[in-house]
Amino acid sequence: MKLLIALALVSFAVGAFSQCTCPTSKWAVCDGSPCQCTLLVGSNVKQNVDCTNLIPKCFLMKTQMQRARTGKDTRTIGGKPVETAFVDNDGVYDPDCEADGKFKARQCNGTEECWCVNSAGVRRTDKADKNLKCDELVETYWLRMQMTHKELAKEVDEAQLKTGIEAAILARYRLAKTFVKEVQYDKDARMIIVDVQKDKDDTKEDLTRVGWYMEKDIKELPQFNNQEKFEPMVGGQKMEMDSILVYYVDAKAPTFTMKHLTGGVIAVIVVVILAVVAGLLVLFFLRRREQARYSKAQPREMDNM
Ligand SMILES: *[C@@H]1O[C@H](CO)[C@@H](O)[C@H](O)[C@H]1NC(C)=O
Repeated sequence: MKLLIALALVSFAVGAFSQCTCPTSKWAVCDGSPCQCTLLVGSNVKQNVDCTNLIPKCFLMKTQMQRARTGKDTRTIGGKPVETAFVDNDGVYDPDCEADGKFKARQCNGTEECWCVNSAGVRRTDKADKNLKCDELVETYWLRMQMTHKELAKEVDEAQLKTGIEAAILARYRLAKTFVKEVQYDKDARMIIVDVQKDKDDTKEDLTRVGWYMEKDIKELPQFNNQEKFEPMVGGQKMEMDSILVYYVDAKAPTFTMKHLTGGVIAVIVVVILAVVAGLLVLFFLRRREQARYSKAQPREMDNM
């Protein structure tokens, strides 16, 4: 009997202390043994997620939209608003995801208006109607993170900065050092540029999750369950970040910039045509005036005769 009680107590204690949480997302709900975590990606739609790794951006974006719809906070005090002037212009929408968490190449945000996205889910074409075709999901192989850091007591050494950033990215986002291609530093602007890059044809490594997690870390609140900040150690100092701007570079250039170009070309053509027409009109009226003078002169000459 005593043994039974002891056993029950032990199993209760084990149950209470066994960790069934999702380290990589505070939005995930975990349950059962073995521990299974899910994200609510629609009303009553649950998505199983693997919390031993960063969670695909597409799932997280869907969850954020679902949370916004049901009035749950997706951000709180202390962070900057999501739509600051220099962020990805469309921001968060309700994406369609593949089973493995990749974005579908065509996105419509639950509307009749659709567009094509890259593997980061960022729009890379103009918006069009439902008949739009997106042949493939173009890979985002390069992310440039442009950050500013808060003031520090001591000056920053560039070599130490690179080591610190690489270490923090590896520890926090589990991204190997080889993907951190370059770290640039502008001391006066307190600006750090981190280029995270993979081979153009590498479809395995998903860099876009790192972009999502970093943006959350710096602009809002961390996506991670423990709310520790992203603070690389640089030369013995904790470096706190202020702002972040992410540039996306795709394996194929986006097509929506072309429209800007054609717009410009059309404007130039219109101006040229207007100038030519104006010139022709001026010539025409000058000719008419000369002709009028000529025909007025005519009768006088006749008189003289
Ligand atoms: C997606 O739809 C939501 C409303 O459901 C809207 O607030 C948001 O601006 C849309 N996003 C885009 C990129 O069209």
